[in-house]
Amino acid sequence: MAAPIDRMGLLLVILLPVLFSISHAVDRSNFKTCDKSAFCKRQRDVKPGQSPYRALLETLELSNTRLTLQLINDNNKVRLLLELYRLQGNMTRVKINELKPLKPRYEVPDVLVKDPPTEPLSVLDRDENGVVLSLGADSQRLIISARPFRLDIVDGPNVLLSINSRGLLVFEQLRLRKDTISHKITSTVGSMWDKIKNVFSSKSETDSEGGEDVEQNVAEKGEEEEEAKEEEDQPGMWEETFKSHSDGKPNGPTSISLDFSFPGVEHVYGIPEHADTLKLKSTEGGDPYRLYNLDVFQYELNNPMALYGAVPVLLSHTAERTMGIFWLNAAETWVDIGSSASVQGGSEKSQTDVRWISESGIIDVFVMLGPRPTDVFSQYASLTGTQSFPPLAALAYHQCRWNYNDQEDVKAVDDGFDEHDIPYDFIWLDIEHTDGKRYFTWDPLKFSQPREMLQNLMDKKRKMVTIVDPHIKVDSGYKIHKEISSKGFYIKNKDGGDYEGWCWPGNAGYPDFTKPEMRAWWASMFAYDQYEGSMENLYTWNDMNEPSVFNGPEVTMHKDAVHGAWEHRDVHNLYGFYVQMATAQGLIQRSGGVERPFVLTRAFFAGSQRYGAVWTGDNAAEWGHLKMSIPMCLSLGLVGISFCGADVGGFFKTPSPELLVRWYQAGAYQPFFRAHAHLDTPRREPWLFGPENTALIREAVRQRYTLLPYWYQLFYHAHRTGQPVMRPLWVEYPENAATFAIEDEFLLGKDLLVHPVTDEGSRGVTAYLPGDGEVWYDVHTYKKHQGNQNLYIPVTMNSIPVFQRGGSVISRKERVRRSSLCMQDDPYTLYVAVSAQGTAEGELYIDDGHTFNYEKQQFIHRRLTFAEGTLSSSNLSPDSQFSTASWIERVVFMGVTKPNTATLRTADGSESALEFEFDPSSELLSLRKPGVNAGAEWTIQLR
Ligand SMILES: *[C@@H]1O[C@H](CO)[C@@H](O)[C@H](O)[C@H]1NC(C)=O
Repeated sequence: MAAPIDRMGLLLVILLPVLFSISHAVDRSNFKTCDKSAFCKRQRDVKPGQSPYRALLETLELSNTRLTLQLINDNNKVRLLLELYRLQGNMTRVKINELKPLKPRYEVPDVLVKDPPTEPLSVLDRDENGVVLSLGADSQRLIISARPFRLDIVDGPNVLLSINSRGLLVFEQLRLRKDTISHKITSTVGSMWDKIKNVFSSKSETDSEGGEDVEQNVAEKGEEEEEAKEEEDQPGMWEETFKSHSDGKPNGPTSISLDFSFPGVEHVYGIPEHADTLKLKSTEGGDPYRLYNLDVFQYELNNPMALYGAVPVLLSHTAERTMGIFWLNAAETWVDIGSSASVQGGSEKSQTDVRWISESGIIDVFVMLGPRPTDVFSQYASLTGTQSFPPLAALAYHQCRWNYNDQEDVKAVDDGFDEHDIPYDFIWLDIEHTDGKRYFTWDPLKFSQPREMLQNLMDKKRKMVTIVDPHIKVDSGYKIHKEISSKGFYIKNKDGGDYEGWCWPGNAGYPDFTKPEMRAWWASMFAYDQYEGSMENLYTWNDMNEPSVFNGPEVTMHKDAVHGAWEHRDVHNLYGFYVQMATAQGLIQRSGGVERPFVLTRAFFAGSQRYGAVWTGDNAAEWGHLKMSIPMCLSLGLVGISFCGADVGGFFKTPSPELLVRWYQAGAYQPFFRAHAHLDTPRREPWLFGPENTALIREAVRQRYTLLPYWYQLFYHAHRTGQPVMRPLWVEYPENAATFAIEDEFLLGKDLLVHPVTDEGSRGVTAYLPGDGEVWYDVHTYKKHQGNQNLYIPVTMNSIPVFQRGGSVISRKERVRRSSLCMQDDPYTLYVAVSAQGTAEGELYIDDGHTFNYEKQQFIHRRLTFAEGTLSSSNLSPDSQFSTASWIERVVFMGVTKPNTATLRTADGSESALEFEFDPSSELLSLRKPGVNAGAEWTIQLR
């Protein structure tokens, strides 16, 4: 039995890359357009107009923090239940579900970090036309209009957001097939009823409502249907086919839709992942943006097709206010964006119209009211959590390719970095390191001594990542498969057997990561005694977790596959989130809860920021892909996922040396910095392109290493506050409309502006330096430039245009060594860039770099302030305790006049004069050897 299957699997695995590498762009016909997706087409055929929904005000119930109200669809008499909550921190939650669904509809678990804390709701006014509620903050109100039903959030005279104002609330109710209904009349105990009851008795722990009501609900449904106008079935309601795949929908049509309009708004962002512009485009006349995690082979740029991950969060922005919508739904989702005119206060304004369409589940929406960008980031972080705090080494450089062939190859590459004096922290192994694509194993010939290999890396203070994918080879001799299958942990197909699909190992099963027991078991597999050959410097990469199923519809799982009580349809976009969650848990557990994990994932959802890093998947060695890495990571940062990067060099195809160098230069300033390449591409370790290119790449990587203290502090901040690490300019300059569409440059934190060179043969770039009255310093030449200008910067192959904001202090470690760990106790250099007002401010954060002890206050967090000629270091966290061997070896001031003296004062009151050099042409002052400990209290006075 096993043999022919194995051979077929092998054939597929051999053929697939070959087949793939001869085509040159995405095969669009493999993926659905809205027209080919039955529910999207049905929904999109509903045009804006008067909503059939009416609010039944007599059903209004108000507890302290929750308002409920029934809505009725006047066309079919089906009732919905609206729930409204005012949440702490200027948020409103709107839930809409069927009042009496035939059976429960899926509500996304595990993404919210907790039940969001509520605030009391109070009714200010109420009559037969509607209800006015106070939203607490000053003049903000929520207005419920009854006929037709709509919601408006207003601030004084201004409408901030209208919901269902275009009448696109559509809620396809669960129903029985017409033939089944007539069957029921003749035979009261039809098998349909047993089936429904069975589903309930085998429900998973994720839902709590009982199933006893089903029969009653079905009966009532029947009555409703009788009084309702007979609705015609539309195409694709009960089954649809795409290419050779048919999707029988046991629950029939279940899709939902709702519209949101933002008066006065012209800029909206977010809803990654798409290879498209930062500012979202109108989808009128084209397809909506699609959110459906897919393994898209050789994805194209500038279109709204779905990619590997989905975060259903959209931000709106004007000079006055930033807001957000979080549409908590894990099913296939499409988002339409358009614009229209609205009349407000007698004058006409343009508005942005957004419409969300999902295949199943309920409407569960969080409206984040800002008003500033930072408020929206903290509001969203309070719902889904912040970026996990990575080990410091994970912020350094990663060397990957598909594949490093064997232990000798790993050693040769590792030595190559030393030989060429290029630092790196992690070397990565792709699927070929395993024993026949069985994850958690090693190829017995090529990687026969994994511990020895890992120990060699550890001796050099370096680390490794191996890939662990969620498709499990069906092989009775493979421990992982045997256990998953005997525990019943595989996803089932609709007939109840284990779901199987083709992936790298050939025939594979897919563990049901939605089950907590499955995740706990998976986590336990990372224990050192379970994952043989693993050591504490081995970390993990989860690829193919959309999930990718080579022979499935759209290269993913059949929607009618079964996860306990739910269909894959309901949970699809959550699968990758759960895989990374379980893996990160495994890495934490193996160290007894001491060490921070590092896990990279390709698929993701809202909340994935809590579990590690993401990358933009299988890009290509093209200039357009290099450019696109900026808006793609910016969009992810806006929705909480800061730890983002793109494959340096491009995964498919072969970069020219120039493109490779430019990509290293850009990647060195993006959060996750990893080179990666396809199996079929020529080798591209940094030293293979001649000494000049090697030197250029070395310089880019070294710049990354010198800046690690700043990166680390930014990630600490992101972890504590939810503020993005890599930011679009408008986030820091929200009132400056010139910044709203900029996507060829970005800020790291608020103090570094990066404008990578992303054009072939470039002789110069034009960077926009923001901020009226601000100054910016070129970090390489220290030359000062005024803000609020377009600055032309001539470039050579050596140039990475980066500017430090006047008014900031950035710390660096300038003795670059083999790896970040080798630099742990190295001294700091402080770069003080003085503002036009003669001041500057920054932070320095230090801890052990890899454990959770920072949660026990074991860190140093200092504020560095320069004012009135004095730079001082003060403690931002007096209760914390940590000691460092690092000291301050140099302080560089930009934009100062020459002092007569520079005096260091330490905590014990002692004073000493510091030696300095001053360059009048660049206003650069360099103080040598203050020599104080980086955790100490001190001041330096310039006189
Ligand atoms: C809530 O909104 C008000 C004004 O609209 C603002 O002053 C306040 O900072 C906001 N609070 C939060 C937590 O975002």
